[in-house]
Amino acid sequence: MILLVTGTGTDVGKTVTTAAIAANLQGRGRRVAVAKPVQTGEVGDSGDLATVGHLSGVTELHGFHRYPEPLAPDLSARRAGMPPAQLDEVAEWLWQLDAEDPERVLLVEGAGGILVRMGENWTLCDLALRLGAPVIVVTTLGLGSLNAAELTVRHALCEGVRVLGLVGGSRPAEGDMDLATRLNIDELPRVTGVPLLGCVPAGAGELAREEFVAVATQAGSGVLPRDR
Ligand SMILES: Nc1ncnc2c1ncn2[C@@H]1O[C@H](COP(=O)(O)OP(=O)(O)OP(=O)(O)O)[C@@H](O)[C@H]1O
Ligand SMILES: [Mg+2]
Repeated sequence: MILLVTGTGTDVGKTVTTAAIAANLQGRGRRVAVAKPVQTGEVGDSGDLATVGHLSGVTELHGFHRYPEPLAPDLSARRAGMPPAQLDEVAEWLWQLDAEDPERVLLVEGAGGILVRMGENWTLCDLALRLGAPVIVVTTLGLGSLNAAELTVRHALCEGVRVLGLVGGSRPAEGDMDLATRLNIDELPRVTGVPLLGCVPAGAGELAREEFVAVATQAGSGVLPRDR
């Protein structure tokens, strides 16, 4: 099965959350692969897939297009004079990866938010529609997050994309939470109408693998409910 990970913006914790979901699923005995169809602004082997592998221990990591400058993929492709990613070829690529092992969960990280142009005039939302796959929306938790999360969820739903729920990309420790963050934990599901599946604890992205996996799989602080 294919599951797309998008977010309310760039730098909201999609990669760390993807790693946490992957570790959480692996911890429950599921086979997991992670795909990043379009990566920008990273050289060599660095990038989101490397981060996911480093944190979660997942070894099935699949990349496709890479563009040099840290910009929206379509813009980065144009400025580099490189062909932009095509929706058809990316969908076909993911279908083939999924067909290798339909029992495996194939997590697909987008780029930036849901309306970022992955290629000329297509977005992660278009990809989700084409694949018929659901999305998880990674969100910030602080002030401004209700609006950003609701915009993202509403857009996906209006386009006919299923939204499994939200994940908080970085949840501060209890004593470090400001008022907006504390209240938004309850407000986010209320305003968006989709569940907050879990939150990645702040600082998790800096943990060594063993600790990260423990945090991601620990009962109560898992990133996805046990029955998903
Ligand atoms: N829970 C967390 N704990 C520690 N660091 C975090 C956490 N979430 C995010 N970060 C840090 O914030 C930065 C952005 O996170 P991340 O790369 O996951 O965002 P992203 O949404 O995937 O960004 P992009 O749009 O570039 O793919 C990274 O430096 C990451 O290490
Ligand atoms: Mg990322």
